[in-house]
Amino acid sequence: MHKHRQQRIDDFIDPGFSASVIEWQKEHGRHVLPWQNTRDAYRIWLSEIMLQQTQVAAVIPYYGRFLARFPDVLSLAAAPAEAVMSHWSGLGYYSRARNLHRCAQRVVAEYGGTFPADPALLAELPGIGRSTAAAIAAFSQGVRAAILDANVKRVLTRAFGIDGYPGAKAVEDALWLRAQALLPHDGIEAYTQGLMDLGATLCTRSKPACGRCPLVARCVAHASDRVALLPMRKPKPAVPHKQSAMLVITDRDQVLLQQRPDNGIWGGLLSLPEVDGQTALNPAHSPDPAQFAQSVARIVAPFGSIGSCEQLPSFSHGFTHFKLQVTPYRVRLERRLTPAGQGGHVWHAQSQLADAALPAPVKKLLLALFEATGTSPQTG
Ligand code: ADE
Repeated sequence: MHKHRQQRIDDFIDPGFSASVIEWQKEHGRHVLPWQNTRDAYRIWLSEIMLQQTQVAAVIPYYGRFLARFPDVLSLAAAPAEAVMSHWSGLGYYSRARNLHRCAQRVVAEYGGTFPADPALLAELPGIGRSTAAAIAAFSQGVRAAILDANVKRVLTRAFGIDGYPGAKAVEDALWLRAQALLPHDGIEAYTQGLMDLGATLCTRSKPACGRCPLVARCVAHASDRVALLPMRKPKPAVPHKQSAMLVITDRDQVLLQQRPDNGIWGGLLSLPEVDGQTALNPAHSPDPAQFAQSVARIVAPFGSIGSCEQLPSFSHGFTHFKLQVTPYRVRLERRLTPAGQGGHVWHAQSQLADAALPAPVKKLLLALFEATGTSPQTG
């Protein structure tokens, strides 16, 4: 009866989880990183910002140099922006440095140079999101607040077998609820660091070391052999598939090309005449093959009469927003009428196609076709 009711925080309380993480952290976690063994919120904040998008090993030398130049929040707030940027130079994601500087100035202006202890207040400062705010509050003040960065998402989705892309709002909300419910009542520092250490050293994206994981006995992903499948990847947006029939209308050594309109795909390029969308189907699958033949005849009529029409193998071409499946038809003219030029049509020598302003897949089709059929300018 209660299967579909809203999940509540109580449903996720599970003291064994944090106990295992804490015990493991004390024995096997990292204890001598330069930002550990301090309660200085400035140092902790600086490390968390640097570690947001950068690996520990890359951060360590920058962290030391930065602290030597800006030992506290007052010196950072008072520094010129260029000095801050030059000490960040090489770490990447420079908006972090701009936000860092602005954040220092706000901590000085609004909090007299002391970082607030409340994660909700920290999260209102520039560059500090909910997870970073929780890490700073936990490490500097022992505040019982939940972190949820990419590493922790990986640990939680695996340990509890949580499906869905963790970046999706609903999945992320459920993860926050669970992260909150799992918090220990004592030892928040070791627990928070332990989650980070597990995610970084054992519960890695590829080749996780499940054999050494303190959570393996209770890991849902491990038990169901889904470790490699979790966390799920961002779903690819489904791209629409469009179809087109292209006519390769040839007369002796020439092929009929058509200028495409300036707007839309392949704007302004030369291409092959196309049968319009509705009927542009493989007649084998078309609801109305006769209608398709009629459309072809209508396109060809101004240029001559159809000698033969032969379907060629289809190919697909991927655009950013859709996928185009092209079915080409080889149409040989029997009797060519003089007019050309109308409707942007031009007769083009087959031997000159390599240099023509054609879309790449169309050029490839034509070059392969005329190569294979061995059409030379002399044969007819
Ligand atoms: N990544 C983010 N925060 C970290 C921390 N405090 N220690 C190690 N890696 C981290």
